Amino acid sequence: MGDWLSQIQTGGVIILDFGSQYTQLIARRIREQHVFSEILSSETKVETIMERQPKAVILSGGPSSVFENSAPKYDLNIFDLDIPILGICYGLQLLAHHYGGEVEPGIKGEYGFANIHVNQSESILQGISDGTQVWMSHMDKVRNVPKGWTILAESSNGIVAAMINEETKRYATQFHPEVVHTVEGESIINNFLFKLAHCEPNWTAGNFIHEQVDFIRNQIGDGKVICGVSGGVDSSVVGALMHKAVGDQCTSVLIDHGLLRKNEAANCVSALKDGLGVNILSYDESDTFLSKLSGVVEPEKKRKIIGEQFIRSFEKVAARVGDATFLAQGTLYPDVIESGASVGNSSHVIKSHHNVGGLPEDMDFDLVEPLRELFKDEVRNVGRELGLPDLLINRHPFPGPGLAVRVIGEITKPRLDILREADDIFISSLHEEGLYDEIWQAFAVLIPVKTVGVMGDQRTYEHLLGLRAVTSSDGMTADWFRMPDEALSKISNKIVNSVKGVNRVVYDITSKPPGTIEWE
Ligand code: XMP
Repeated sequence: MGDWLSQIQTGGVIILDFGSQYTQLIARRIREQHVFSEILSSETKVETIMERQPKAVILSGGPSSVFENSAPKYDLNIFDLDIPILGICYGLQLLAHHYGGEVEPGIKGEYGFANIHVNQSESILQGISDGTQVWMSHMDKVRNVPKGWTILAESSNGIVAAMINEETKRYATQFHPEVVHTVEGESIINNFLFKLAHCEPNWTAGNFIHEQVDFIRNQIGDGKVICGVSGGVDSSVVGALMHKAVGDQCTSVLIDHGLLRKNEAANCVSALKDGLGVNILSYDESDTFLSKLSGVVEPEKKRKIIGEQFIRSFEKVAARVGDATFLAQGTLYPDVIESGASVGNSSHVIKSHHNVGGLPEDMDFDLVEPLRELFKDEVRNVGRELGLPDLLINRHPFPGPGLAVRVIGEITKPRLDILREADDIFISSLHEEGLYDEIWQAFAVLIPVKTVGVMGDQRTYEHLLGLRAVTSSDGMTADWFRMPDEALSKISNKIVNSVKGVNRVVYDITSKPPGTIEWE
């Protein structure tokens, strides 16, 4: 077994990915039931699958048709596995095709909501109500199920919606139980995990921490580790976990580039140091960053300068920390999957998709990535279990270049200070109003436009401030948050009355696309 795999990660569910947009969602739904699940490429050899000692395999959906030559390849031997296999959507068609059923190329397909007629409420559909709403997204359909299979449910137009062969432990749904629109999807996944595959619900934050601590201790021995902390959730959780595992052998460092929000550096250091006893040092590099950024207005140039200076500052700080040979960082499972390193090989990739905080590959460190198997919500659970405060755990995403991309145009200390004050009022008001957790990301933007206003008897000619709040599930698409008028009015008043330099506030109602979340 690969040494990256821990005890609680065996006995889980392997998902073979045939390209569905919902594959990650399947993994998350399973893990929400406290069962480990791992996504592997559809081409994974059966030997690699068996190394993980899974209790079950899921064949995901996918955009292909089983008739296409370009359909994803897979190891035919998976069908010989003597463990339950669940096919979802394309996975159902693959099972039907393989076991001699008849799949018919579709012309119209079925997309969106459907209600299924449940013929037999048993096996994978045990306890599922007749007429239940599901989410369909397929072109081809099964005309005849393979010999020995039973149709458990059909959609309204007679299309096979669920079929099983209990004897060979093969199960399939044409619809997507992992999508929330499938109202009883969770029960269906539960049936599969616990009634059919007999999985153990042992994938919990507590167990994860317990095992990772041993794992990290083994990896580090008596070596030294440096851990870059940014103020965000992932790196703070890594810092806390490393501390639990190897104590002062790990030094967490926070490089304050002067582009953080009000009190952000201090709050993060205090949560880790005072709250958990983490060995953390904060380095104020803001003068260097601000002087490098002086006069720069172009967003990509800002990012490049910050990215480069971050590396220089990190090198300097690492040299001060001394003889660390390990670098701990908060790579998450979606990063691993997206970098194509998910098949369990150890192709470690230095986190590079973020242009700030990404370190060059020639830096001579061994990587420690204790969160590389986790989704974001799991990282939050681990953080909570480790004792990090909710305020830090539930924090909105924050870009590496920080406020540099929110002070539109030239960055100066006074302009950063205006933005910091206004942003702080905005964010704390959202907390007070109980709105913060409904929002994916909220922030203020300082716009390089001055407008006239009146304060008391005085005319003012001051800055314009933009407020942005969006809802999203992954930052890829986003919609503007329908902020209650009352809250908007209160926040605007507070900002204009108490932030010197701002006399007008506007609210951004652009979705993404066509806009982006950040303004620069
Ligand atoms: P956009 O603005 O592209 O943002 O819609 C999507 C998400 O990415 C964050 N973002 C960044 N994160 N470095 C980062 O680490 C960056 O340069 C950067 N630019 C945008 C943004 O805050 C949002 O969460």
